[in-house]
Amino acid sequence: MKATAVANANIAFVKYWGDADLALHLPVNPSISMNLDSLSTVTTVAFLDGPGADRVIVDGAPANPATHRRVTAHLDRVRALAGTKVRARVVSRSDFPTGAGLASSASAFAALTLAAAAALGLELPEGTLSALARLGSGSACRSIPPGFVEWVTGESHGASCGRSIAPPEHWPLRDCIAIVSATHKTVGSREGHARAPSSPLHRARVEGAAGRVAACRGAILARDLATLGSAMEADTVMMHAVARTSRPPICYWTPGSLHVIRAILAWRAAGVPVYYTVDAGPNVHCLCDEADAASVVQRMEKLPGVQQVRVARPGGGARLVPEHLA
Ligand code: DP6
Repeated sequence: MKATAVANANIAFVKYWGDADLALHLPVNPSISMNLDSLSTVTTVAFLDGPGADRVIVDGAPANPATHRRVTAHLDRVRALAGTKVRARVVSRSDFPTGAGLASSASAFAALTLAAAAALGLELPEGTLSALARLGSGSACRSIPPGFVEWVTGESHGASCGRSIAPPEHWPLRDCIAIVSATHKTVGSREGHARAPSSPLHRARVEGAAGRVAACRGAILARDLATLGSAMEADTVMMHAVARTSRPPICYWTPGSLHVIRAILAWRAAGVPVYYTVDAGPNVHCLCDEADAASVVQRMEKLPGVQQVRVARPGGGARLVPEHLA
């Protein structure tokens, strides 16, 4: 009745931004991402006999009420599949700042889904686990399969899941992440998704997303950084333009984010193949070849507002591990 899972965060090259079906958590557009090996969440779930509420410990402290509710609601989905009502004790730890656009909800809900299912003795296929993780947090469905992952929109619960298009060893890319703020973002992505349709740019972004996903998929298979990078940057600007023009508007970028973005553009103009993307937060992910990573990191560390640079390689899928957190 106890299991522990590890899952990586992922960085979206084409973003999920807005829902087609709120209740089922079906996205309005397909998305594509890469798992990040050095950004992970470990979660132990133990189911205990007897009455009482679930206990949820995140990074050493009891979860805040909103997180507690979200975790309990997700455990209820897994319990319903197993036909049980036993209460759970969840202990979870991430090795990166959570809530700052480093996709903590993706790794957290992917690890929670796998650990909870395994603790209840459910042996679910990868697609089923991915769809289940999606109900906890959309982008979590892309942290279940390994490597480079595409999330097809799907028109039913079971069809809307992540599928690996290439394993992590397919392409030794590097994601050099400039952390310009490690504090909690002010507007969560859930609220951002809800506001997206109020932007006059929403429809244009959604209409172009499948084309950008196809461009990224082809570029990943061909290991073509220039094509991947330009589709990714175009999608980043579109997503943030939608956020900026939503009602009420959301601005995730800080002066530190812009320093990094402008530097990336200048370095590229000077011949360094490096491309940026930003999720729902201020931190900037810079994608480059393995051979350029050390010099990109050195340059990034000198930029104003950059507190830390983390480097990630393509990561594996969610997996069970033998050591428990508690
Ligand atoms: C900008 O998956 O965090 O990172 O389902 O509400 O948890 P919830 O949203 P979430 O949204 C991700 C937003 C994004 C883009 C992406 O990862 O595709």
